[in-house]
Amino acid sequence: MAGTIKIALVGAGMFGGDVHARSYADLQRAGISPQLGRVGLDAWAREMAAIKFELVAVATRSEKSARRAQKNYRDWTKSKPRMYSGEKPWLDILRDFPDLDVMAVATPDHLHTEVILAGLNAGAHIITEKPMCLDIAEADQIIELAKKKKRIVAVDMHKRYDPDHLRIRDDIKKRIGEPLYGTAYLEEPLEVSTSTFKWVEQSDPFSYVGPHWVDLIYHYYKSKPVSLTAVGQKKRLIRDGINAYDAVQVRVDFANGMSINFHNNWITPPDFEGPVNQGHEIVGADGKVESDQQYRGFRWWNKGGGSRTANNHFTRDVKRPDKTQAYNGYGVDSLTVGLAAICRMKFFGATRDDVADIYPTAEEARITVAIVHAARIVRDLNFNYLQEGKGASVTAQFGKDGITIVDPNQTAGQENFQKIYQKGI
Ligand SMILES: NC(=O)c1ccc[n+]([C@@H]2O[C@H](COP(=O)([O-])OP(=O)(O)OC[C@H]3O[C@@H](n4cnc5c(N)ncnc54)[C@H](O)[C@@H]3O)[C@@H](O)[C@H]2O)c1
Repeated sequence: MAGTIKIALVGAGMFGGDVHARSYADLQRAGISPQLGRVGLDAWAREMAAIKFELVAVATRSEKSARRAQKNYRDWTKSKPRMYSGEKPWLDILRDFPDLDVMAVATPDHLHTEVILAGLNAGAHIITEKPMCLDIAEADQIIELAKKKKRIVAVDMHKRYDPDHLRIRDDIKKRIGEPLYGTAYLEEPLEVSTSTFKWVEQSDPFSYVGPHWVDLIYHYYKSKPVSLTAVGQKKRLIRDGINAYDAVQVRVDFANGMSINFHNNWITPPDFEGPVNQGHEIVGADGKVESDQQYRGFRWWNKGGGSRTANNHFTRDVKRPDKTQAYNGYGVDSLTVGLAAICRMKFFGATRDDVADIYPTAEEARITVAIVHAARIVRDLNFNYLQEGKGASVTAQFGKDGITIVDPNQTAGQENFQKIYQKGI
């Protein structure tokens, strides 16, 4: 089956400009078939081999960064995507490419929804960065529109494709028995919050990286949240005049009885040996699994360079005979699955339902968005009450009737139960 998948990338910063752009460059060079075996879809490798991929447009906030992204892409592929910049450059892209197949969204967290909805409305499929969005009502809007337009919204949840996590999902999970409790942590470098992101004050460490682990735990157990509590601290970034949380801790209780603590920060000093510190562990009724995603036993040090670790599983460069580098890893795998689903729909007559179990869907992402949304409200209330010496007693409940914030501090005449969402989770 010959044909082309035309992709536009909106947002080409630390992540879009690297992982998305390099993945699309390799697709443009060799197609999707070289990647399919990594994600268990090799049965489609022969029939998908002829499909071409083209990054037709790249858009960022400033013209300078758009030009940089365009140049990088040309260096990798000799092909030059059209560049766009400004407040809403995706609208110009959709006008210029009415036959766009895929809108890839790697804008800051709070700027996903508008791009996703515009892409869907124009008939494009979506590959979006996590979190899909930050508001549960927006998640519903995205899901409804995707259904109506018969389009895919694939969310980049690469932790699902880490080989260690696949082993836990498919094997270890059964050995350790009913899950009791667990911890999942992801600690980002200080550089991210103080220099890389211009949008830290519109986000927080849990909204930014917590979704990875929340999604993974949901992916393992398919159990919905029933309640949560959350707290956060502001001590380090405030020193640099940044009014954002340094760290957030969220405990989520799930319908299957397990309770998971999610710990996130973005203030790890540069002296730390790895790019990020991350891992998770789950205690079951019959055993325990520990999985350290940061230190996998690979470490080196040299004079003046400190002690260092690297995660070669996420993405790695593979030397080609022509001296260029191919790009592989579970960071690419999560983009591959969404694109494979899109190819099935465009070229092989598949429906959304036919391919729904091969990629992280918007429906699954909605659970993560519900947790992120409620945790944000609970955390802010608890933060204020802690300042007043009243403790952190605010929680959220999830159920068939929606999401309720439970605040015992409300005084007479005020509501202790505030419903923030009316539909079942
Ligand atoms: N999957 C992962 O492991 C992972 C890792 C890092 C970031 N992310 C996610 O990727 C997204 C981007 O993060 P990042 O680290 O690249 O951030 P970044 O700040 O480095 O890059 C953001 C990009 O969006 C562009 N942008 C901002 N406003 C825009 C607008 N109005 N129109 C068009 N482009 C606009 C910027 O110009 C920049 O290119 C976030 O949602 C983040 O959570 C995912």
